[in-house]
This record gives sequence, structure tokens and C-alpha cells, in this order.
Amino acid sequence: MNAADSEVVGAIVKQAGYELTDDVYEADVIFVNTCSIRENAEQRVKKRLIEFDSLRKKKSWLKVGVLGCMAERLQTQLVQECKVNLVVGPDSYRDIPSLLLQADNQPGISVELSTDETYSDINPVKLHSDGVTAFISIMRGCENFCSYCVVPYTRGRERSRDPKTIVDEAKDLFKRGYREVTLLGQNVNSYIWNKGCEDEVDFACLMEMVAQIDPLLRVRFSTSHPKDMSQKLLDTIAKYDNICKFIHLPLQSGSSRMLKLMNRKYTREEYMQKIDAIRKTIPDCGLSTDIIAGFCTETLEDHQDTLSMMRYAAYDSAFMFNYSQRSNTLAAKKYEDDIPYQEKTRRLEQIIDLQRELSLESNKKDVGKVFEVLVEGESKRKSSQLFGRNSQNKVIIFDRKDFQKGDYVKVRVTDCTSATLFGETI
Ligand code: 5AD
Ligand code: SF4
Repeated sequence: MNAADSEVVGAIVKQAGYELTDDVYEADVIFVNTCSIRENAEQRVKKRLIEFDSLRKKKSWLKVGVLGCMAERLQTQLVQECKVNLVVGPDSYRDIPSLLLQADNQPGISVELSTDETYSDINPVKLHSDGVTAFISIMRGCENFCSYCVVPYTRGRERSRDPKTIVDEAKDLFKRGYREVTLLGQNVNSYIWNKGCEDEVDFACLMEMVAQIDPLLRVRFSTSHPKDMSQKLLDTIAKYDNICKFIHLPLQSGSSRMLKLMNRKYTREEYMQKIDAIRKTIPDCGLSTDIIAGFCTETLEDHQDTLSMMRYAAYDSAFMFNYSQRSNTLAAKKYEDDIPYQEKTRRLEQIIDLQRELSLESNKKDVGKVFEVLVEGESKRKSSQLFGRNSQNKVIIFDRKDFQKGDYVKVRVTDCTSATLFGETI
């Protein structure tokens, strides 16, 4: 989401006459687009801000701006403690050019949240792009208020972007050679445009509209909340070859008691039913998840419930975190962060070890199978090899031959680790 937002900011400043550079020493303005979701993300940003402050000692005109969730959460504190010149929240990026003009005299702060800003008219500037895969933001904000999560406070009310502008952006990317788009939102399943009207567009309709642009354009999405993932969406994924057979379905915990405290609005059993529905409708679907270890009051039994659910779902991959208390969230107000750090880490390690086993098992099952792979670039280890992903989002490495970025290649898997598949083109 931040990568996509930075591309919106890139377009806004470019339009105002600025040039973009990747070289911090060359830059007259440095923006840090930030995440507040866990404490360690914020700590890393603060370290970077100290580095940038020392650059300013050699270059007095250098401006440093903090964008995104930390800007929204900490506001003037960032000016006082980290001496930044600009603090701009996720809904105020259009103000950046005017704030920059005034920043010589006073710090510029704009952190108002909006109920309708979607930057729908802005065509993002691609940054660090491979020229093959791209993100498209389809909605902003979140109103789920999971009790541990700061996002509803930093990104504001949920709002969907005009589907016409989404389809136009995808068409334009396809024309420019891109072959895969990932539609992004905190909870894409609640995407809705013109609700209740004749021309209502829900998320399944939107996926269909994007899939119909061209069979050579792959479509992915992230993230779906299990509570409102519909059968209609699963049917749409199954119907189109170019909608990737991959779902990221954050579990957070396998214990119904924890899920209730987390305000996730589904039980263990309901989550299992979603997994069953996915397996039934899309038998070859790749599956990944997010898991939090050591949430408030989590017992060893709750933790075992998470491990057993991981086995049930047989995830191909997962993002796994220690619980990190965020101020002002419901959990911070209502529950004690009572699992000691060491114990959280012990549970997290068990979760990570199990996931490694599950990933290896899943990859071993793919040895001998043939997949269509979209080539994304050169393998990091060997320049004679390329890498790409299959529909299930697994990375496959193979010999380059005459293939190029953006090609679709049929690859037979010959070997694997828990993280990667290796194969030969056929
Ligand atoms: N502590 C740890 N992990 C968190 N996440 C969100 N908030 C927290 C928190 N306070 C994780 C969730 C979410 C992912 C994006 O980040 O697993 O799905
Ligand atoms: Fe946070 Fe829950 Fe919204 Fe995801 S759905 S952004 S975890 S509040």
C-alpha cells in the first residue's frame, strides 16, 4: 500500500515541477513514507530520520518529510523530536507542493483525514518498477477496528475508488507492457461503488472488469478479510484463467476466543468453512496468511489452536509477527499486553518453524508439475537465470535461454527449497 502511495506522491510532485531521484545525496527533498503497524517499523523510520538530519548539516536547504501512517499518528511530535520539515498524512498528499513552498519558513503539517479522497484522477509514476508487475490502489482506509490495529486511526474511513479510473489505469499499464496488476485495499471484499444503484460494482464485478481487459493481463488482489470473502468472488476467480489462483487470507489466530478479543468477527469454524469453500471452488489455489503471536491473554491452548489451524489450511506462505501494542487501539485501552516478550518470541518461532515445514511440503508437491510463469526479471543469485511467479504466487527460477521479462513461459518444476521452486522451461 505504501509502495502504491509513494507512486501517487511521485506523480503529484512531478506535476509540480520536481524531478525524482533515488540518490539521497543528490536530493533537495527526501520523503519517508511510513508504516505504524508495529513498533519496530516506527523505530526503523526514526533511525532513518536521524541519518537524514545529519545530511542536513552539510546541506542546509535539504527538506525532510514524513508521509503516511506515522505522520498521521505522531503529527507535530515528529517536528519537535525528529526535526522534520513536512508531516503529511495519507489523505493530504495533494498539499505537498504548497507545503514545500512554505517549508523554508515553517514546518508544513497536513494530517486531515478525508472521507472521499481516493486520488482516482492521479496516474501514479512507477518507482523501482520491473516494468511487468504493478499495484493499483482500489480503495483507502479501514473500518474493521481489529482491536490490535492502528490502521483505522491512521488511514481513516473506508472509501472505494471509481471503477472506471481503476480499469483505465490497468489498461494503460497493459499498453505500456505491464502483464500483472495487483488490486490493493485493506479489505478488498468490501469494495463497493454506487451501492444499491443499478450500476453497482462490487469487488467480484471489479475483478471481472479488470480480467476482461486482456487474457494476457494477470490480475491479483490483496487483502481479503475472511469475514466477507464471498462465494461470488471465489466463482469469479475460478472463471477467469488470468485471475491468479492465490488468496491472502489473514488468520491472525486459530482460537475463537482470541479472534473475539481481536474483534475479527469470525470464529475458528467459520474460517475453516472459508478454507473449505476455497479448496472446493478453486482446487489449485495458493494460500497465504498473517499470524500474530502472543496477543493479550493468549494461553498455550490458544497458541496450539493457531498451529493446528495452520496445518488445516496448509498455507503456502505466511507473514508472522509478535503482537506489538499500539497506543489508542481498543486492545491497548482494554487488555493488558501480558505475554512476556520472550514467550511471544518462543511462540512465534514455533509458528515460523511450522510454516517452513508447510511451505516445504507444499513445494515438494509441485515437483514434476508444469506451470505457466510470468517472467519478472533476472535471478538475484545467477545472471544466467530468470525468475517469475506462477499463478499460485510461488517464485520459480529457471535458465534464461532467450526469454525476457514480461514473457509467459511454461516451466516444469525439478527441485525446491521451502522458499523457492527451481525448474526447466519446456
Ligand atoms: N501487532 C502485530 N501485528 C500486527 N498486525 C497489525 N497490527 C499488529 C500489531 N499491533 C499485523 C496483522 C495484519 C498485518 C498487516 O499486520 O497480522 O494482518
Ligand atoms: Fe487493521 Fe483489521 Fe483493518 Fe486489517 S482489517 S487494516 S488488521 S483493522
